[in-house]
Amino acid sequence: MVHQRAINLQGSVAQWADELEAADPQAICAWAVSTFGDKVALASSFGVEDMCLIDMLVRATPTPRVFYLDTGLLFPETYALADAVAARYGFVPERRRPALTLARQAEHYGDRLWERDPDACCRMRKVEPLGQMLKGLDAWITGIRRDQTPFRAGARVVELDGKFGLIKINPLVRWTTGQVWRYVRQHRVPYNPLHDQGYPSIGCVPCTRPVRLGDDPRAGRWANLDKTECGIHPGGAPPA
Ligand code: ADX
Ligand code: SF4
Repeated sequence: MVHQRAINLQGSVAQWADELEAADPQAICAWAVSTFGDKVALASSFGVEDMCLIDMLVRATPTPRVFYLDTGLLFPETYALADAVAARYGFVPERRRPALTLARQAEHYGDRLWERDPDACCRMRKVEPLGQMLKGLDAWITGIRRDQTPFRAGARVVELDGKFGLIKINPLVRWTTGQVWRYVRQHRVPYNPLHDQGYPSIGCVPCTRPVRLGDDPRAGRWANLDKTECGIHPGGAPPA
């Protein structure tokens, strides 16, 4: 029975993905809230893609669900933007925190774990809190785009998220950086000022560097490490 439900879900997801492939991101956001109600939430890092999605969700519903994984190590500018969202859009993004404070993590695993074992640090500070958050949802929305990484090139508008066991909705998959910024200008969407200071992709302070013009926009994430993802999205080589 459970197996049959999984097969049915897989069929629905594939059909939704086909039907929505050419849809406008605003229409995809509206579809997400009308289909999943309060069982869908946007995961927001307050990067420019997520700011567009917040703006679109607010146009679709007066009560969007938006959460952020607060590692305790986000940039001051990112925390300020979370406050700016509340002021501009009239709702407070939900803050999800890791089980361990930074002090407790340092006690148990040593200081500055991100320098010695960034995968363990990401697991405790991002992946596990995300898993907890997603347990209460049927679907989550993310800001990933196909041109960000070779793996993300295979992302669909609607997917089954095998790792977390729910539906994943990626309204911006088809958009380029240019389209994202056009939307920001057109709708006067607030954004992280670090984007204007050489940070196209923004994560935690210890693991994010500015990049030079022409560099891969993600080159500043875990720079000098053989790490390209924190583990909340699949990564590595593109699927065959
Ligand atoms: S990451 O895996 O490398 O950190 P990236 O910064 O590209 O991801 O962001 C891609 C998407 O993952 C965002 O659009 C957002 O949906 C989600 N995301 C990343 N970081 C967070 C965070 N701290 N809190 C909530 N969602 C996040
Ligand atoms: Fe830790 Fe760096 Fe991962 Fe943030 S990005 S959780 S600091 S390893």
